[in-house]
Amino acid sequence: MTNAVGIDELSVYVPRLFLPAAGEFSTSRGIDPAKLIHGIGIERMAVPDAHEDAATMAAMSLLDLMRRANLRPEDIGKIYVGTESAVDEAKAIGTYVIGMLEQIYGKGSFQDCQTVEFKSACISTTQALEALSYSVAADEDGRAGIAIASDVAKYPLRSPGEYTQGAGSVSLLIKKNPRLVALEQIYGTFTRDENDFFRPIGDVTAVVNGKHSNQCYLDAMQGAFDAFARKARDKGIIKPEGGYCVTDFCAHLLFHIPYPRMVEYASAAIFRHDWRGLPRWKDIEAEVGPEPQAEACESAGQFQEADADFAKRFARSKQFLQAFSTKVKDTTIISRQVGNIYTGSIYLGLASLIESQKILPGERLCFGAYGSGCSALVFSGIVQSCATDVPLRQICKKLEERVQISLKDYEKLHEGKMEKSIIPPSEEFALVKIDNQGYRHYNYAN
Ligand code: HMG
Repeated sequence: MTNAVGIDELSVYVPRLFLPAAGEFSTSRGIDPAKLIHGIGIERMAVPDAHEDAATMAAMSLLDLMRRANLRPEDIGKIYVGTESAVDEAKAIGTYVIGMLEQIYGKGSFQDCQTVEFKSACISTTQALEALSYSVAADEDGRAGIAIASDVAKYPLRSPGEYTQGAGSVSLLIKKNPRLVALEQIYGTFTRDENDFFRPIGDVTAVVNGKHSNQCYLDAMQGAFDAFARKARDKGIIKPEGGYCVTDFCAHLLFHIPYPRMVEYASAAIFRHDWRGLPRWKDIEAEVGPEPQAEACESAGQFQEADADFAKRFARSKQFLQAFSTKVKDTTIISRQVGNIYTGSIYLGLASLIESQKILPGERLCFGAYGSGCSALVFSGIVQSCATDVPLRQICKKLEERVQISLKDYEKLHEGKMEKSIIPPSEEFALVKIDNQGYRHYNYAN
């Protein structure tokens, strides 16, 4: 693809503190550690220190991105930040981020750069990426775009959401002729008004209807996948015939990762949907039993129960396990150690594949983003020939070097009662003060 637009570079920032799922946390909450590690898929949750927030984490991932890609402020035309952990009701988080970066690059160095905050729960960074892909393609001024995801995923203490928390930021450099992934510019969308997960103004933790949120995610993903498949066929980019289907043309499927098991539910739903009616479906039904039909059930409730049971059996079928292990499983490597970072979680999936050297030039990646409320966006990209030459980020090594905190310190940080940082800031941006007007002061601590 000449002149294609896509992801040229990616940087990940994760706080240096973590709380293990098994141990003090599981004991105090009365949860079997096996449920957290296998049933949810989480081993460690990243916890922001007292001086960290969505703005400092965004500035950290952006600084790393600029250093990795040798970018100067004048090379960047737009910085779009996806977040649902806004630090202000009006002022764009990107202006705080620019203020921090100017402490490194010089006052006024970003004055010719536009910044907008995108809010749409966990899908916002993907919507920012889509918007940037069009403006970079239009070549307004030859400058690159940056999409930053930055969030603190926070639920009430002792709630079922608590073990799906996390924090972190991902910055993506969007350019022409990208080194990592060229976007195919096919976007399938789905939107519906839902009460699955939301955070009313003034609340610091999300309200979540957990099981309903899983179902909304699956419905929206399927709707967006169908829209994507239709567009890909219409454009002649993916032409499944002779017993093949759309996912056969995708080497990896990267879904939003609120917790790693969700990716298993999502891929089972998408493969089941995509494979139904193909010759292979006969073998699957022979192995796990026939798929229930609504007309054959006495009530909607009976059908739902039979369908949920079939979904579990399908997820244990040989063909699904094979597809999951080759196309999906490795996207969760980093998330297992970090937890949900909301709008950046899907890009932790991309980082997981890149850092574990699981992607190859020419492969098609199919992304399935989800945001509560709710929306899904499915799109694709092709791994570029020089992708494997881009230096790795050693993310897994850095995650191993983090500091474990006690349950008591985690709860203090969660409730905003920790006055001093657990690790004093060093070589990083830090929130130093919120003044009496509510303006936030940040500093780069050497
Ligand atoms: P829960 O009540 O802990 O779930 O809530 P569960 O009891 O059903 O257990 C989960 C799995 O653990 C089940 O596996 C259990 O069997 C298994 P399954 O039956 O499905 O295969 N399990 C065990 N496994 C091994 N050993 C054991 C054991 N016990 C049970 N001893 C829930 C889980 C995710 C709902 C909850 O944590 C929650 O509400 N989280 C927050 C919401 C969320 O993450 N929703 C996901 C979809 S919405 C989304 O992705 C958007 C979001 O990112 C926000 C945004 O868009 O901004 C959240």
